[in-house]
Amino acid sequence: MISVKNLLKIYKSGDDSVRAIDGVTIDVGEHEFFVLLGLSGSGKTTLLRCVAGLERPDGGDIAIGNSLVSSAERHFFLGPEERGLGMVFQSYAVWPHMTVYQNVAFPLVNGPRKHSATDVKKRVLNALELVQLGGLADRPAPFLSGGQQQRVALARALAVEPKVLLMDEPLSNLDARLREEVRDEIKNLSRKFGIAVLYVTHDQVEAMALADRVAVMSKGKVLQCAPPRHLYEVPSSREVCEFLGSTNLLDGVVSNGGKIETELGKIVCAVSDPKLKNVSVAIRPEEIQLSPSATGLENEFAAEVLSSTFLGELTVCDLLVNGKKLRFKTTQSAAPAQRFFVRLPADKLKLFARS
Ligand SMILES: Nc1ncnc2c1ncn2[C@@H]1O[C@H](COP(=O)(O)OP(=O)(O)O)[C@@H](O)[C@H]1O
Ligand SMILES: [Mg+2]
Repeated sequence: MISVKNLLKIYKSGDDSVRAIDGVTIDVGEHEFFVLLGLSGSGKTTLLRCVAGLERPDGGDIAIGNSLVSSAERHFFLGPEERGLGMVFQSYAVWPHMTVYQNVAFPLVNGPRKHSATDVKKRVLNALELVQLGGLADRPAPFLSGGQQQRVALARALAVEPKVLLMDEPLSNLDARLREEVRDEIKNLSRKFGIAVLYVTHDQVEAMALADRVAVMSKGKVLQCAPPRHLYEVPSSREVCEFLGSTNLLDGVVSNGGKIETELGKIVCAVSDPKLKNVSVAIRPEEIQLSPSATGLENEFAAEVLSSTFLGELTVCDLLVNGKKLRFKTTQSAAPAQRFFVRLPADKLKLFARS
C-alpha cells in the first residue's frame, strides 16, 4: 500500500548537511500496521513527512496504492492534499475557533469527497464515540485538555475512513492510563477498517503492542524490519537487541572449540560465524534460569541477589555473578543476599560482533 524505495532526504543548514533519511526502503501492506521505531533524531518524522507530501525527498520514490506520488529522479511530486491520507501528528493541530464537532467534521465537509449531512453527522458522532469524547461534541476546542485535543485529532483522521493513516507519536501527550486505552483503540480501529497504518514512536512497548511489523531506525537508516517477536528473539545487531526490551550484555572473546571467554567465565555457545572473534553475548533477563543448588549443567554460575523489586506477576532482580551485575526476572521469590545458581542456556544466547 505504501512503497518507499531508496529514499534520501538531506537537510542543509549553512555548510552543514544532515542525511535525515539515508537510503530507506520499506513496503507497507494493504492492511498492515507498520511502526517506525527509533531514538529521537533517527529520521522517523522526516520519513513520515515525506510519505505525507510535507517534505520533498532528495532521492528515491514513494508510491501509495498503485500510484507514484513522489520521485526525485523523475522530478515528480504530488502535494499532501492529492495523496488521500489521514494524518495525526504529535502536536495536535486542532482549530481553536471551532467546536469539537466542527473540528472532526471539517475534512468531511471540505474534503474532495462529498458527504451528505446525515452521513457527516453519523461519521463524526461515531468517531467521537470511538475516542471517548461522545459527550463533548459541542464544546469549543480550546476548552479541552491536551489529551482530549489529541483525541479530537484522532477522531478527525478516522472520520474520513482513509485507506492509509499516518501517525506521528499520537499518544505522547496523553497520560499513562489513557495512552493504553487509546493505543488499543487505534489498533482495533485499524483492524476494523482494514487500513494501512504507518505509525511513528520512540516507545518500544507501544511499537510491540501495535505493530504487525516494526522497522527499527537509526541515523536515517533502517537497521532491521520484522514482526515484533522476531525482532525481540532474533535481533540482527546489538543495537536492535538493546533497543527492544532489556538485555544483559557480556563482553567476550571466542576461544578455540566454540567456547567464549567472558567476564563471567567460560561460556558454551554455538558460534555460527567462524570470523567472530570479539563478541558481545546477550541474554534476556527472563531467559536466565535459576536453581537452588548446582545442577552441573553447562553455563552455570553461583549468584547472589543484590537487590530485588516485586512487581506483582514477577520480581526483577540485580544479581552479582562473578563480579558482574546481571538483570534477572523471575516468578519465584528472590530476596537480597539470597544465594543460588543461575544458568545461561546456550540456545538462548545471542552473539554480536564487538568492535
Ligand atoms: N527542518 C529541519 N531542518 C534541519 N534539520 C532537520 C529538520 N527536521 C529534522 N532535521 C534533522 O533530521 C534528523 C532526523 O530528524 P527527525 O526526522 O525529526 O527524527 P525523529 O522523528 O526520529 O526524532 C535529525 O538530525 C534532525 O535534527
Ligand atoms: Mg519525530
